[in-house]
Amino acid sequence: MDYQKVIEEVYQEVVEENPRGKVANYIPELARVNADQFGIALVDLKGQVYGVGDYLTPFSIQSISKVHTLTMVFHVFKSKLWSRVNVEPSGNPFNSIAQLEYEKGIPRNPFINAGALVISDALCGKFESPTRQIQDFINEISGNTCVSVNHEVKKSEQNHAERNTALAYFLKAYKNFDNDIAEVLDVYFSHCAMEMSCVDLARSFSFLANDGYSIFAEREIVSESHARRINALMLTCGFYDESGEFAFRVGLPGKSGVGGGVAAVMPHKFSIAVWSPELNEKGNSVKAVKALELLTDKLEFSLF
Ligand code: DON
Repeated sequence: MDYQKVIEEVYQEVVEENPRGKVANYIPELARVNADQFGIALVDLKGQVYGVGDYLTPFSIQSISKVHTLTMVFHVFKSKLWSRVNVEPSGNPFNSIAQLEYEKGIPRNPFINAGALVISDALCGKFESPTRQIQDFINEISGNTCVSVNHEVKKSEQNHAERNTALAYFLKAYKNFDNDIAEVLDVYFSHCAMEMSCVDLARSFSFLANDGYSIFAEREIVSESHARRINALMLTCGFYDESGEFAFRVGLPGKSGVGGGVAAVMPHKFSIAVWSPELNEKGNSVKAVKALELLTDKLEFSLF
């Protein structure tokens, strides 16, 4: 399979169609990026990189980092984690508060903000310096040392933190939050504000295409059964209230972020990251989703 040719064709077709959206502006610093950027990086299971467009430019990974943090706690807590966070699609926006009240403080899944805050809380209870350790972990599994927290983005989000702070207090009210709220929010905003290029992001997802084994870290990151479960969660919950549509159009487990990135995996074949900042109204990158739809159409395979 000539992956380079396929992603170049996909890139060209998306550039020609030029579907448009809006750059996230509820985190003001994110609205400052050049909206025309667009890159694709595909990494096969031997570590061969195929790239096109702005695939080497670092961008804010935002909610994609929730896959990395989930992986870290999954490994530590194993099945105990699922008494604190559920594994169902929410059918609601990523920052919704309502469901958390009527479901008594148990978030629907680890990818909506409420669920990711529970994961950050769990990390704070187990790790000495969670932010540094998340960074070290992402560096290890991407075989690189270049992941950094963009402090301007982090500050910008901290200045507009009302909803996430409300979610944390709600979780605390339902006794599903052990640590200091400010400390956990700091860890959460730090991992959301991490920056990576498409190539490093695709490399960091490689273990999920490879039964849990990272060829970059040269070790098993999670067991094969945990890798399957993380992929199942990405497929059902990775795009919030658009997860069904992503499964329908693309058919790969994936995770989006409001920085405009999408990372996805084709188990036993490759991992891929696509980035372009303009989002649809559900908070998912318009060009990245289109590119992945064209990709699986051209490859004539997906998970299904
Ligand atoms: O907490 C937030 O709102 C952001 N740090 C992350 C949201 C996000 O990326 C949602 N994904 N599409």
